[in-house]
Amino acid sequence: MKIAILPGDGIGTEIMAEAVKVLGCLDLRFEMEEAKVGGAAYEAHGHPLPPATLALAKAADAVLFGAVGDWKYDKLDRPLRPEQAILGLRKNLELFANFRPAICYEELTHASTLKPEIVAGLDLLIIRELTGDIYFGQPRGRRASPDGAFAGADEAFDTMRYSRPEIERIAHVAFQAARKRNKKVLSVDKANVLETFQFWRDVVTEVHAQYPDVALEHMYVDNAAMQLVKDPKRLDVIVTGNMFGDILSDEAAMLTGSIGMLPSASLNAKNQGLYEPSHGSAPDIAGKGVANPLATILSAAMMLRFSLNQEAAAQRIEAAVKAVLAQGLRTGDIYSEGTRKVGTREMGDAVVAALKAQG
Ligand code: IPM
Ligand code: MN
Repeated sequence: MKIAILPGDGIGTEIMAEAVKVLGCLDLRFEMEEAKVGGAAYEAHGHPLPPATLALAKAADAVLFGAVGDWKYDKLDRPLRPEQAILGLRKNLELFANFRPAICYEELTHASTLKPEIVAGLDLLIIRELTGDIYFGQPRGRRASPDGAFAGADEAFDTMRYSRPEIERIAHVAFQAARKRNKKVLSVDKANVLETFQFWRDVVTEVHAQYPDVALEHMYVDNAAMQLVKDPKRLDVIVTGNMFGDILSDEAAMLTGSIGMLPSASLNAKNQGLYEPSHGSAPDIAGKGVANPLATILSAAMMLRFSLNQEAAAQRIEAAVKAVLAQGLRTGDIYSEGTRKVGTREMGDAVVAALKAQG
C-alpha cells in the first residue's frame, strides 16, 4: 500500500503530522513518501505541482493531502498559484468523484450555529463532480470585447460545459452511493437558466432509469442552498456539478459545527484516490499548534476504506475520533463551555491513545 503524503501549506504540515502518527499505530504496513505541494513546492522548486510530486501521486495507491494556499501568493500568475496544485492533481489523476460527507457528531450538536433540533443526527453526503464544469471549461481568459454591448471595454470569460460521459459517470457514482444509504438522490442544477444544467438534468434522469430502487429528486441550486439550512435532515445524497458542489459543500460543512471535522475523498475510475480535509490552509492560525487535525485523520480513514480496502482499520479510526469527542477534548474551532481545549498535537495523541485502548 503506497501512500503519497502531501502536507502542503499553512496548517497542512501540522495536521498531516497527526494523521501520519495515527496511521503509524495501526499494525498495517504502508509505504509512505512525502513531497512538497502548493506554496511550499513553489518556494522550493518554482512550481506548485512539480513533476516529481505529480509522478509520486500517480504512482501511489492513494494520496493524503493537507491543504494549500496563502494570501502571499495571490499576486502570482494563476498557473503558479498554490490552488493550481490541487486542481492539477484532480485533473491529472482524473479524480472526478468527490465525496464530501457532512456528519453532525452528537457531541458537537451545540457547536453548530443552527438550532440543535435542525442538525442533530445529520448525516448527508455531497457528491461533487470534480474535473469538469466552469472550473476546467475552455476557452477562458481576458480580451478586448469584440463588439456588442461591451464594445471598447475589456472583458473576462469562463466556459461552463459538461459532456454526456462526464455526467453519466458521476450520476452512477451517486446512485450507487445512495444504494448503500437511504436510497434517495437529490440532483442539484440550474436547469431553469443554464443550458449546461438542463443537459445535466436530462442525463441524470436517463441514468436513473437503471436505478429504479433509488428515488431521484431535482432541485435548483438556489433552492437547495435554502433547504440545506431550513431542513437539512430531509436530504441524503446530493449530486451536483463542480462549482455548485464547491459552494454547497462549504454550506453543509457549517451545519456540522466546524469544517475542521470534515474529511473528503476524490476518486477516479480505478478507485485511486486523493484524501483531504474539506477545510483550507488557514494561514491565520498556521504554526500555532491549534488547528483541528480530525478532518485529516478522518480523511485517512476514508483512504483506508475506499482505496486501500482496509474497512476494519477505517472503522477503528472513526471510533477513536468519537471516543476523544466523548472524552470532551476539543480544539478551538469546536470548543464550547464545559469541554477541554487542546492543541493539534494533543488531539492527535488522544486519537492514538483511543486506538490503543481498543486493544
Ligand atoms: C475546494 C477548494 C478548491 C476548489 C480551491 C482551493 C481550488 O475550495 O476543494 O473546495 O474550489 O475546488
Ligand atoms: Mn471549496
